[in-house]
Amino acid sequence: MNLSLLSTVWFDYWSSKYYQSLALRNQVLRKPIHLQFSNEQLTPDKNDWHFGVFFQTECLACLIISPLNGLNVAKMRQVAVNEKHQGQGIGKLMVIEAERLLKLRNFNEITLHARENAIPFYLTLGYTLVGDWFTEVGIPHKKMIKHL
Ligand SMILES: CC(C)(COP(=O)(O)OP(=O)(O)OC[C@H]1O[C@@H](n2cnc3c(N)ncnc32)[C@H](O)[C@@H]1OP(=O)(O)O)[C@@H](O)C(=O)NCCC(=O)NCCS
Repeated sequence: MNLSLLSTVWFDYWSSKYYQSLALRNQVLRKPIHLQFSNEQLTPDKNDWHFGVFFQTECLACLIISPLNGLNVAKMRQVAVNEKHQGQGIGKLMVIEAERLLKLRNFNEITLHARENAIPFYLTLGYTLVGDWFTEVGIPHKKMIKHL
């Protein structure tokens, strides 16, 4: 994939782009661990910020930002790249662009819960590990942070 053909965009909850991103999240983040989203798990999506990478109208990657109240800290979650397009720089492009836009909105720190497989990806992007392993959705995670 030629990265210069891709566009990055914030999109609304309940939009057609959101439903594409939800399908991608299900495929990439839930299916491999034999889970599906419950309505309760999707409730926070309503107030969060949705960001994605698109080739024409196809969603290739997405992430969600939860601004943490009263702090200039954003939690990044649900980072997913279509399996067919992983390892081509799309995840990196998406996270770097989201970081740039968050910095413009006066955020100075990003925090996230990384799955074990994704830790090398976030290390490459300058995130640092904080604390011990914990379990989320039945699999090990570590907290990581980056100062913007
Ligand atoms: C993790 C994920 C978001 C990375 O996105 P990606 O598009 O595949 O990664 P990129 O191609 O942009 O890689 C960026 C850099 O990270 C490195 N990297 C990515 N995954 C890596 C891995 N598993 N091990 C080592 N390095 C890795 C790449 O080598 C690259 O390094 P470089 O910039 O020095 O060349 C994506 O693979 C994915 O969706 N995985 C499954 C879902 C998941 O685990 N999401 C994260 C939940 S916390």
